[in-house]
Amino acid sequence: MELIPNTEPERQYWFMDRLRSMVAEEALKAGRELTYCIQTFGCQMNAKDSEKLAGVLENIGYKEADSENADFVIYNTCTVRENANTRVYGRIGYLGTLKAKNPLMMIALCGCMMQEPHEVEKIKKSYRFVDIVFGTHNIFKLAELIYEKMTSGKKQLIDVWESSSEIVEDLPSTRKFDFKAGVNITYGCNNFCTYCIVPYVRGREKSRKPEDIVKEVQSLADQGVVEIMLLGQNVNSYGKGLEEKCSFAELLEKVCRVEGIKRVRFMTPHPKDFSDDVIEVMKKEPKICAHVHLPVQSGSSRILKKMNRNYTKEQYLTLVEKIRSNLPDVSLTTDIIVGFPGETEEDFLETVDVVKKCGYDSAFTFIYSKRTGTPAAKFPDEVPEDVVKDRFERLLAVCKAESEKAASKLTGRTVEVLVEGRDEANKEMMTGRLSNNLLVHFEGCDNLIGKLVNVRLDECKGFYYLGSLV
Ligand code: SAH
Ligand code: SF4
Ligand code: F3S
Repeated sequence: MELIPNTEPERQYWFMDRLRSMVAEEALKAGRELTYCIQTFGCQMNAKDSEKLAGVLENIGYKEADSENADFVIYNTCTVRENANTRVYGRIGYLGTLKAKNPLMMIALCGCMMQEPHEVEKIKKSYRFVDIVFGTHNIFKLAELIYEKMTSGKKQLIDVWESSSEIVEDLPSTRKFDFKAGVNITYGCNNFCTYCIVPYVRGREKSRKPEDIVKEVQSLADQGVVEIMLLGQNVNSYGKGLEEKCSFAELLEKVCRVEGIKRVRFMTPHPKDFSDDVIEVMKKEPKICAHVHLPVQSGSSRILKKMNRNYTKEQYLTLVEKIRSNLPDVSLTTDIIVGFPGETEEDFLETVDVVKKCGYDSAFTFIYSKRTGTPAAKFPDEVPEDVVKDRFERLLAVCKAESEKAASKLTGRTVEVLVEGRDEANKEMMTGRLSNNLLVHFEGCDNLIGKLVNVRLDECKGFYYLGSLV
């Protein structure tokens, strides 16, 4: 028998080679192509992981389907807030009914939720029709898991790792867009904000080597990608543990040097690590987009301390002032949590104050969700639901007023936009993305998709512009 390689990614390619003929055989028997569908919940990190999963499935012969009525369905789950979990359970049952009608169908669950033992128990007990369960650390193993499931006769295959130290590179990936792509720079998180489950389900922070990142960006550029987004839970702490030192600012410079790449974005920076050198690079590198997503979470220094965010209200405001004065065109967005345990009306008003002072272009507001296993889950003084709801509504109104003010700043200007496609709501119009992440709709044709063009911003419609090609 041929030896199975024990190094990665060679091992996975070995399984993909075997699977290709197995899938082809099944397709022949069925008299049709086999199809797949991946549903992604959660953040950009998960979206990027889903592209890797799709890469493997396409490599072994599955074709993308436009619904979950497919032969291979993967749910890539999120568990950051309780409603993320509820949404998944709401839909797994439906998959069961589809499977009852399609004997070829395989169902796999992966992602952050599967890193929680109590969730896996629930799948084991109540959702026996799920074929494969894996986690965030062994996502690269999909081919091997499918092979094992197909050859072992096991009813349900569960393989979830508690942690991982290696980063497996160079597996296939199928991108959603031809012209823009996400690139992981770090995995995991070491911050342990007291409300947050991410460090427990994604593990310790690991930085990819700068040369591997640059190689991937170069290869994307060679394939025609013009905009990249560097991804990590805390991108500006990039570089820890690397043999050869490289800071986030240095990485940005390296990535900007890649020919063919016209725009560079990053998500998410942490206020505590936003050093001056990053601002300097943003100032001098025209490729870096004029957008900073800077999650504040709360405006109260007292709550920020309990959240373990490592900055005060004043430090945050000083940072915003520094960003604004050095990068006047930058749009600033944020994440805010309402109703963290112990949050008083005064604390809440501090948050409102920060929103007004920062004039966010947009803010993602969340109601605090208790996550089992995090320190905050044991904090006293939970805020009553009606109080939280009231604060949430009031905060939304303030955020909306601020973003309407901020959005119209550029009216009348002509700016460069990346054309992303037709406007979903009005197919007559094209949609382009500004450097600052806002959208503009304008008349144009399909051959502009993926190109950078100049558009005059005629009118601001609150969250987007109407414009015309110049
Ligand atoms: N690493 C990023 C994003 C993490 S998750 C960061 O630090 O900003 C995205 C957002 O979800 C967070 O910014 C936070 O606002 C929100 N979030 C995380 N855990 C939450 C919880 N338990 N309840 C409510 N919102 C939460
Ligand atoms: Fe969660 Fe905080 Fe890490 Fe963001 S920085 S992922 S909020 S622990
Ligand atoms: Fe959710 Fe995991 Fe991202 S918990 S927000 S998908 S890192």
